[in-house]
Amino acid sequence: MIDQYPLGELSAERFLAEYWHKKPLLIRNACPDFEPPITPDELAGLACESEVESRLIQFNPNSGDWQLEHGPFDDSRFGSLPEQHWTLLVQAVDHWVPEAADLVQRFNFIPNWRVDDLMISYAVDGGGVGPHYDNYDVFLLQASGVRRWELGPICNEHSPRRDDTPVMILPQWEPEQVMHLEAGDMLYLPPCIAHNGVAEGDDCMTLSIGFRAPAHNEILRSFSDFVGEKLGRETRYADPELPLQDNPGEISAAALGQVRTILQQYLQDESLLTNWFGRYMTDPKYPELQSEGEELTDDELAGWLEEGNGLTRNEGARLAFIENGDGTLQLFADGRAYPCTGSTAQLARALCAQRHYRPQQLPDAEARTLLLELIATGTLYLEDE
Ligand code: SIN
Ligand code: CO
Repeated sequence: MIDQYPLGELSAERFLAEYWHKKPLLIRNACPDFEPPITPDELAGLACESEVESRLIQFNPNSGDWQLEHGPFDDSRFGSLPEQHWTLLVQAVDHWVPEAADLVQRFNFIPNWRVDDLMISYAVDGGGVGPHYDNYDVFLLQASGVRRWELGPICNEHSPRRDDTPVMILPQWEPEQVMHLEAGDMLYLPPCIAHNGVAEGDDCMTLSIGFRAPAHNEILRSFSDFVGEKLGRETRYADPELPLQDNPGEISAAALGQVRTILQQYLQDESLLTNWFGRYMTDPKYPELQSEGEELTDDELAGWLEEGNGLTRNEGARLAFIENGDGTLQLFADGRAYPCTGSTAQLARALCAQRHYRPQQLPDAEARTLLLELIATGTLYLEDE
């Protein structure tokens, strides 16, 4: 298992202990056998599709201006670009290209539910998105050409930035470290480190495996929405022990304590927390693009698996599980929850461990019912070998 991690000589344990979410790491030849999952032409093709999120960023070295255009692009747009200083960035390529989804699986030393997407950029000489910082961890894998990476200080929302540009640009850029990445090399960056990646020469393709970390404001809003939707309007603040107050305008410590107890009561409810967080973290990135599933009969599924075929997690699907502590668990698939016990719990663990599922033995009837449901909702699809 371990030799498939793109960490060179470094073990996943050491990476997590010393670098993850802490400090940058350059790994030379992280992916020696690396084949880019897509060609530059195919990437440009994706950027012409209406469902695909893409950006074209240009820099004018004479004026210092930056220009941002959002896709979808017309085919002809790429023919009319200058020879230097532009880059095309395509988001969530792993949602569209199975080989790209498989590549993301090589980063399985980080839990799947932390993955945001695989973005791919293509740049001509001098192209890049400028000095900036991101709020998430990212692995930047060089697929072709050469990119010069310049690293700067740790930034935050108060760090100065240019107010005349459509993309975040940190002013007075003074790199503290410079490194050149060639095909197969990879740079890991934790959140908030200022960085600037500039293509040196043409055909510079960089893959960014980006992770998500929900903001505290999103966590609080989403959890309270989830709990709030379950509660009727009849469950209310109550104060049967109300004492006479000296000043009717005072909100007493007892009243505040009562509100705190109400909030804690929901926070301490393990089942609420489990059911909300699992759904929340497996909500699809693009819910409107959820693929349609397939209605199969149990016989059809059994026949399919008995012939040695498998099932594959849809490119855009998100799966995770939470153990209940008694051998049962909750499986979460694209924002839906499935309570699992026995053979379904075992199946859920197997489905969450890897994208491709090819059982040695035919799963039992209960497990097949779960598989049929996940195929019907489009989370899994049939894959022959
Ligand atoms: C890239 O240009 O491929 C990476 C963009 C970034 O630094 O976030
Ligand atoms: Co960045």
